[in-house]
Amino acid sequence: MTELQKRHSECTEECHSHEPMTHDDVKDYYGKRVKKTSDLKTNACIAPAKPIPAFIRNALAEVHPEVTSRYYGCGLVAPECLEGCRLLDLGCGSGRDCYMLSRLVGEKGHITGIDMTEEQLEVARKHIDYHTQKFGFSKPNVEFVQGYIEALTEAGLEANSYDVIISNCVVNLSPDKTSVLREAFRVLKDGGELYFSDVYSSSRLPEEIRSHKVLWGECFGGALWWEDLMRLAEEVGFSTPRLVTANTITVGNKELESLLSGYKFVSATYRLFKIPKNPEKKDCLVIYNGNITGFEKSLEFDCHYTFKEKEVVKVDGEVASILKNSRFEEEFTFQPDVETPLPGSCCVSPKVVLVNPFELAEKFESANVSPATGGCCGTQASCCK
Ligand SMILES: C[S@@+](CC[C@H](N)C(=O)[O-])C[C@H]1O[C@@H](n2cnc3c(N)ncnc32)[C@H](O)[C@@H]1O
Repeated sequence: MTELQKRHSECTEECHSHEPMTHDDVKDYYGKRVKKTSDLKTNACIAPAKPIPAFIRNALAEVHPEVTSRYYGCGLVAPECLEGCRLLDLGCGSGRDCYMLSRLVGEKGHITGIDMTEEQLEVARKHIDYHTQKFGFSKPNVEFVQGYIEALTEAGLEANSYDVIISNCVVNLSPDKTSVLREAFRVLKDGGELYFSDVYSSSRLPEEIRSHKVLWGECFGGALWWEDLMRLAEEVGFSTPRLVTANTITVGNKELESLLSGYKFVSATYRLFKIPKNPEKKDCLVIYNGNITGFEKSLEFDCHYTFKEKEVVKVDGEVASILKNSRFEEEFTFQPDVETPLPGSCCVSPKVVLVNPFELAEKFESANVSPATGGCCGTQASCCK
């Protein structure tokens, strides 16, 4: 018997299962066992690593307290440039992020929340009118659908119909992550984005951890090894995931911690785009026009690139392709000729492209810098050294 198995056998009978986790186990967890944020047994549900801009804080403050009391997310899923967009929230739960985003997309935008757990959706649906009135909209721009994130088609969601998909601490709970990414890719429009926060592990997790009901329910047992996300994204056809931010998660529960020893976990936010596969990805100079609401002075695109208004920045071919083929196209001026940069142009692109969320989280910690300050890549200049 391995040490882990010994410790596992000391756990209470109800944690034990030698069967793979099912949708029903997770429904039971979020529908029956956990009723509010403080019922969670670990720290997986941590404060977002990124600073929250004031206009997003204001939108969050307007969400109904009953909705907020059942928030179980692990990051801030509020990408930029959302006005008028059609959004989908995978595993929306009681709808906190849907309502925050309802405010941000505005009356002309729309957001669909999908979740499989009736009890969560009940709370979400109960407050549609409250938020419609609060935001001063003439009709709701939010709907909640019951269904599985691995089967968006069956839930009635159309192909090529969403500009942005977000998800907050949900994909780790799915027993079939390939289907989740495939379905997300299918329902996104061309140029669309999957922007999601989730829990990742430092290596692949063994069956003893994966089959522990509480660890799975608390978002650890089903956590993807971050390198597997890179492989899955490529397999499905997404652009290489761009790392936005990462934050170390401590378990905060002695018994569960001992089961997980030897493994580390982070909460990380990645952005993946549905853009044409372009073998010829060339570096490019770009200038941000400063027109995105809430990000007029600067736009922190990921942990490498922060675009300041009117500043010339050299981006790698992948980012150039993302910006040109997505909703960001109108927000930038592109100058493909990198050989004759304009006066004041930025230094070269970062030499090492950091995609490992553990490295990013460690950098923030060792510099004793909260990611809230922008961390190691808070400015383009600091990234480009
Ligand atoms: C950790 S909670 C997060 C909820 C919400 N995103 C939030 O931030 O409060 C996970 C949610 O995902 C839902 N969920 C998990 N797996 C799912 C699946 N395969 N299909 C649909 N919903 C799922 C659960 O019902 C639960 O409401």
